[in-house]
Amino acid sequence: MQISPSILSADFANLEHELDRIGNADWAHVDVMDGHFVPNLTLGLPVVEALARVSPIPLDCHLMIDDPDRWAPAYVEAGAGSATFHVEATRDPRGLARALRAAGGRAGMALKPGTAFAPYADLVPELDMILVMTVEPGFGGQSFMADQLPKVREVREAVRRHGGEVWVQVDGGVSLTTIERCAEAGADVFVAGSAVYGAEDAAAAVDHLRGLVAA
Ligand code: DX5
Ligand code: ZN
Repeated sequence: MQISPSILSADFANLEHELDRIGNADWAHVDVMDGHFVPNLTLGLPVVEALARVSPIPLDCHLMIDDPDRWAPAYVEAGAGSATFHVEATRDPRGLARALRAAGGRAGMALKPGTAFAPYADLVPELDMILVMTVEPGFGGQSFMADQLPKVREVREAVRRHGGEVWVQVDGGVSLTTIERCAEAGADVFVAGSAVYGAEDAAAAVDHLRGLVAA
């Protein structure tokens, strides 16, 4: 069970300090938004490169961008431990997953709430993580979409059948009140933005969340 706080809810003027606040987490989730794939714009390669230099924990880059086929491997080269592309924006998900692994990173594939998993189930062996979005991507602080839990279950089932080590991540509205349902449905990597950075003590919030899902 891993916790990946999203720095989207952190203070963008003090990112090094904000990463230090979550040094007890497993990953730092970095939401890259390009203003095209989603109606919001955050940060890109130069900032990820700078964050990778100072982060006490590995970066989990969630790429909400057009044309990830072209851009995603560069995030691994910039120092991210994991890069997750949105399958809705990808021309060749199999080729891209292979390119991410060849670059030395973990390959993640994300599904928006309206995107079904079944058409992509044969990609499981190419992937290290599958991200089931539990809000519409673009903004932090939205309400958890419980109607995505059957998809989490479906993905977990496919991963189990495959038998490999593929992580199942949930992102959006994950909090002290929703994380247990996600774990029960089969998620094992939990992204939380406002639930961590909205807390006075971010590290304690990470421990709290982890405590609720620890086996
Ligand atoms: C939304 C982002 C999320 C966001 C989650 O597009 O992908 O990572 O930061 O924020 P919370 O946890 O506040 O829903
Ligand atoms: Zn995200």
